[in-house]
Amino acid sequence: MGQTKYLLDESQIPRQWYNIAADMPNAPRPVLHPGTGEPVGPDDLSPLFPMELIMQEVSEEPEVAIPEEILDLYSLWRPTPLFRARRLEQAVGTRSRIFYKYEGVSPPGSHKPNTAVAQAFYNKREGRTRLSTETGAGQWGSALAFACKLIGLECKVYMVRISYDQKPFRRSMIQTWGAEIVASPSEDTECGRAILAEHPDTPGSLGIAISEAVEDAAAREDTSYSLGSVLNHVLLHQTIIGQEALAQMELAGAFPDAVIGCVGGGSNFAGLAFPFVREKIAGRDIDVLACEPAACPTLTRGLYAYDFGDTSKLTPLVPMHTLGHDFVPAPIHAGGLRYHGVAPLISQLVNDELIRAEAYLQSDIFASAVRFAHSEGIIPAPESAHAIHGALEVARNADDAGEERTILFNLSGHGHFDMAAYDNYFAGKLEDVALDEAEFERALRAIDGLPTPA
Ligand SMILES: Cc1ncc(COP(=O)(O)O)c(C=O)c1O
Repeated sequence: MGQTKYLLDESQIPRQWYNIAADMPNAPRPVLHPGTGEPVGPDDLSPLFPMELIMQEVSEEPEVAIPEEILDLYSLWRPTPLFRARRLEQAVGTRSRIFYKYEGVSPPGSHKPNTAVAQAFYNKREGRTRLSTETGAGQWGSALAFACKLIGLECKVYMVRISYDQKPFRRSMIQTWGAEIVASPSEDTECGRAILAEHPDTPGSLGIAISEAVEDAAAREDTSYSLGSVLNHVLLHQTIIGQEALAQMELAGAFPDAVIGCVGGGSNFAGLAFPFVREKIAGRDIDVLACEPAACPTLTRGLYAYDFGDTSKLTPLVPMHTLGHDFVPAPIHAGGLRYHGVAPLISQLVNDELIRAEAYLQSDIFASAVRFAHSEGIIPAPESAHAIHGALEVARNADDAGEERTILFNLSGHGHFDMAAYDNYFAGKLEDVALDEAEFERALRAIDGLPTPA
């Protein structure tokens, strides 16, 4: 059949992260202080983040060196494999070649520890002893719990209520790595108590969980806040994925003309795509496709606007595609894609037409997930299944047009803790929710009166 896996040696782990800010045709608009309307400076952010991460957030250097200690931790699971999906190609009968980068080999099972170990490292080096965070699907919470345990920090995780109930074993995993975990909204914070008083049955949202984690960190000297996506430094850390993939595609003697990933806040997508967008900016022709759920269609239907990153308006104002900070997405099973906004770097690249986006219904993405499991063996996370579905769509369109493509997608994680979602799919119990127009318009009213990006 030909070669299936393209592997790099541990010594080939990239020694720097790639910073796309250095190459973008238009820099993203600045993040604003909601009180003054002025761009936020390092001092505004220092109660929440260590200075090294703040400097990475605003860096315009094309490359940022990865400290040895982080490379050493990366070696536990990196480099990750790149597969040629020959069996999937055969199963769907496409003429295109499909490759995927598999991030599910990390101990927590996704791409998330690529930034979790980096964030924990810099926090520890600057004297913080505890991190607070939110988690949607539980992948980020487990990644940060894992990183904190290995590096020697305490960790508190606010887990979106619906995922807390749907995924009891993600909870156990987080506890196994020694972190404290509560369902969000919780009684542990002022904003959690306020939301519970008004909506006692809320399924929660990433926006609410972020409010709780930010409040927790702001109230304690020993604690930093840690975010698993969206921010520039998080996307920066994930670019280790795409840099490895570039080398592995070269081993395969191929270069992708489509690069695809699922988008929640945007970190796994950016991680794979940004090193290829660099090539696109330099003149190569690449279709870069972001895949999102129709229930939370941030890039395909959201407005490009200034909005808060969280429900209780504790964060600065972020220039991004948004559905409104009090939007609570339907409880679809891709919990990690239920976020009202998306990374400013990705939003800007969408505005500049270097990235395009599509939205899919959850029964379609589960059909593609099962098709993938039947041919490639790996049971994907529902989030990652959006990328599989996107890749199959690109292959199908190419076949219909009588064309042949080389397609690369990011398989951001496995779905071993998502089997209840698969059970529901097999039982025919999944609801296909696309965001309806009335709720879309209601939620967007939350950004009325906020500044508009120039
Ligand atoms: C496996 C997996 N993929 C993708 C995502 C989406 O996040 P991001 O867009 O930051 O990669 C998540 C989030 O929890 C996830 O767990």
